[in-house]
Amino acid sequence: MYDFDKLVSRENTNSVKWDIVPKDIIPMWVADMDFTSPPEVIAALQERVSHGIFGYCGSHGGWLEALTHWMDRRHNYSPKLEWISTSPGVVAGLIMLVRALTEPGDKIIIQPPVYRPFYNIARSNGCELVENPLYFDGLKYRLDFEQLKKVADPKTKLLILCSPHNPVGRVWERDELAALGEFCLENNITIISDEIHADLVLPTYQHTVLTAISKEIEENMIVVNAPSKTFNIPGIPASNIIIPNEKLRRNYLKVLKANSLYIPDVFAVTAATAAYTYGDNWLDELLLYLDANINLVANTIEERIPEIKLIKPEGTYLLWLDFRSLGYSDKELDTFIKENARLWLEPGINFGRGGNGFMRMNIASPRSRIQTAIEQLVTAIRTKA
Ligand SMILES: Cc1ncc(COP(=O)(O)O)c(C=O)c1O
Repeated sequence: MYDFDKLVSRENTNSVKWDIVPKDIIPMWVADMDFTSPPEVIAALQERVSHGIFGYCGSHGGWLEALTHWMDRRHNYSPKLEWISTSPGVVAGLIMLVRALTEPGDKIIIQPPVYRPFYNIARSNGCELVENPLYFDGLKYRLDFEQLKKVADPKTKLLILCSPHNPVGRVWERDELAALGEFCLENNITIISDEIHADLVLPTYQHTVLTAISKEIEENMIVVNAPSKTFNIPGIPASNIIIPNEKLRRNYLKVLKANSLYIPDVFAVTAATAAYTYGDNWLDELLLYLDANINLVANTIEERIPEIKLIKPEGTYLLWLDFRSLGYSDKELDTFIKENARLWLEPGINFGRGGNGFMRMNIASPRSRIQTAIEQLVTAIRTKA
């Protein structure tokens, strides 16, 4: 029903993904999609624009209520309305949460390789970044609990979790999240679970909202999610900050107000409400389309360039590719991908420890472009000196 095959030019739209990349190179780096948003979102925005007056919003309109129903339908967990606050984007929300919940000198754990801005977020407010790298057994990434026990100490106040995990594509299982939640509860560490990719889970996998695990975890942990990745509206700043604990919520709201960021963007209200109300069918079809793109890339790699290893993704539209067998340095690998394959991927080193020799490939683009891209990669590798 929806036409994900359509090639829509993004020229002259001020797109960061396309503008910095030379015209004959295919951009597959930053996490936005080359698909138009759900028609209902576009229609709602058009209707709002046609009104012609864009004054301050007095409330979130139907956004937060639509979110609770969406989470109930999609993730079998419905947060209470009064728990939900917002921020203009997930990163901005995470920074404000760190301000609200830490003192300078406190420690914050992240689990690399991970979404790069986590590094600066964890160092904001004068906090000390502590790394607990994921454990990779050659096939699958796991949370490293042994290492976690060693690095967590009484100064550790927060753990920022990426769930599902960008860039390794894990959809953490309920048992893994429960074990993490329990460890953090015992050690007075609040988990901020960045669930921006929660809706982008591949068939046969199921996302678990962290706060859905148990009442105790619910009472002490925070979930951040957003309509931006799901419906391809990341240029409209909107994210949901879900804080069941009243004291933690009050602290967050104080920072939100101090930064004068509590009035939501007029287009964010419109787009988020429409997306969470009408977006199910579009998302269901999108997920099948993304899965077919992933299979195309996975099968081609396996059959024709088996020296490259694709880490089997469970969620997100971002593939984590292991190029280590080529024996290139990270700089050489990036140059090879750009100059020989004519692709612009995100170098693994941008995700910190554990990223050397890897590349992240965004496959949220029409199939014909993905086909061209993977052929270019095959040719580059087969003709490599
Ligand atoms: C894990 C994660 N968090 C946050 C973001 C960005 O969120 P925002 O643009 O709302 O700040 C991204 C974007 O790729 C992401 O992967």
